[in-house]
Amino acid sequence: RKQQNGHTRRLMSETENFHKQPFVIGVAGGAASGKTTVCDMIIHQLHDQRVVLVNQDSFYHNLSSEELTQVHEYNFDHPDAFDTEELLSSMEKLRHGEPVDIPKYDFKSYNNNVFPPRRVNPSDVIILEGILVFHDPRVRELMNMKIFVDTDADVRLARRIRRDTAEKARDIATVLDQYSKFVKPAFDDFILPTKKYADIIIPRGGDNHVAIDLIVQHIRTKLGQHDLCKIYPNLYVIQSTFQI
Ligand code: ADP
Ligand code: C5P
Repeated sequence: RKQQNGHTRRLMSETENFHKQPFVIGVAGGAASGKTTVCDMIIHQLHDQRVVLVNQDSFYHNLSSEELTQVHEYNFDHPDAFDTEELLSSMEKLRHGEPVDIPKYDFKSYNNNVFPPRRVNPSDVIILEGILVFHDPRVRELMNMKIFVDTDADVRLARRIRRDTAEKARDIATVLDQYSKFVKPAFDDFILPTKKYADIIIPRGGDNHVAIDLIVQHIRTKLGQHDLCKIYPNLYVIQSTFQI
């Protein structure tokens, strides 16, 4: 009986956390694999929920004036390129219901002070998207669901060439040099090894409507439990206690 009381107390404190904190989804995968596209599709399908998207890109370190003179030697695909402490602090605040100002990164000037920051309010669902969001265990631990977008390397490279020449005004030679020097090695050394942490692996990214439908259904189920707990705070405890 003593043991059951302890168990019930633990379940009650889990329930308290459960209905206070948002559902956090991590979306990782190689550059141009379709992460943003998948996130946009999830957000679109969850139209009646409060969802916010946080991009790991927002937490790139600014480059020093010396680094700016040799920008083609800078590895933007290495975990050290990101200010993970700042990312963690913003995510913790959002998880605890505080609004945060998230910088907007400018890929042309390599700087996050060009645009005003974006005010992000706490929501029912927080999606954290980026090439290396599964790299740091402390960031992984914040996530209730981890998705890895798995797209073939040739498709990623083709999309990257198209995107970086059109949107970042870079020439093809620069894109290919960066790819062979930094992007591909970092994918093999740092991004691909984090695939094992994923709960769900989506082949073909945004083309995979079945995977996205299933993910949205799962999130809805979790949010439904969340709402039930708000209405009947003891329901989860009662159900779980009966199962013992
Ligand atoms: P990531 O966020 O992983 O970098 P994006 O979703 O931004 O990837 O996609 C990278 C580029 O590829 C974008 O220009 C996007 O429009 C394009 N793209 C993404 N998914 C597809 C798809 N299924 N078919 C064609 N182009 C796509
Ligand atoms: O949006 P996506 O996940 O593709 O963004 C990550 C990519 O952006 C990395 O592969 C990195 O090389 C690239 N990047 C860049 N220039 C910067 C910052 C990031 O090419 N200034």
